[in-house]
Amino acid sequence: MRRTLVAGNWKMFGSRALLAEVIGALRDVAGEASKVAEVALCPPFPLLAPAAELLAGSGIGLGAQNLHAAAQGAHTGEVSGAMLREAGCRYVIVGHSERRRDCAESDALVAEKAAAALREGLCPIVCVGEDAGERAAGRQFAVVERQLAAVGERLGAEGLAACVLAYEPVWAIGTGRTATPAQAQEIHAFLRARLGERDATMAAGVRILYGGSVKADNARELFAQPDIDGALVGGASLSGHDFAAICTAAEGKRWNN
Ligand code: PGA
Repeated sequence: MRRTLVAGNWKMFGSRALLAEVIGALRDVAGEASKVAEVALCPPFPLLAPAAELLAGSGIGLGAQNLHAAAQGAHTGEVSGAMLREAGCRYVIVGHSERRRDCAESDALVAEKAAAALREGLCPIVCVGEDAGERAAGRQFAVVERQLAAVGERLGAEGLAACVLAYEPVWAIGTGRTATPAQAQEIHAFLRARLGERDATMAAGVRILYGGSVKADNARELFAQPDIDGALVGGASLSGHDFAAICTAAEGKRWNN
């Protein structure tokens, strides 16, 4: 049984004022949407504590965008999973393509971060996805398979069962160029089949989100695909109106399986 999840990734955007606006809009729809879908917000670190206060009692989840692989240590500027849990997080994004690119995060490091999140009882949202050149070369399946395999080898089927996956084709992120529902479904089904090689029950339960220019006007047709279990939303999650509309679109999705 896979409950639809719509998670907002604010990246390095936002403010306390925007938190109040977006969470206000989410609270207006969450009562309805949360009957069928789960909603989460992943703001930058300094906004986690005020977000936790504003989200209290709403049923809307809180997530972070990154964590360090170590439990603690002399790592100036870094944040641990325990700190995120204490701040009220349920989720943490790992392996976002912007971090793979900007911070040279390798498949192995992403897998370590996912393991660190699980150790702290956080649900990692593990991002995979090919870039434009890789797709042009027909390598999209090989790329996401390699990225998933690194996490699978580190966590095993039991660990994977506690993760959410997000397929985010790099060429669709922030570009307004969404993957077609068929293109996304093809990769989602492929990822689920790879999970199924490890464990069929786990594969049937893991939620696979789509990310990459999800908007209010394309969410519904993406959610209609059988292996798309929700969305990781960047730009549109910075507008209370647009993010709430995507959450409402998820109502139509109900439960998978
Ligand atoms: P976008 O970002 O919705 O702005 O394309 C998605 C993401 O990077 O998670």
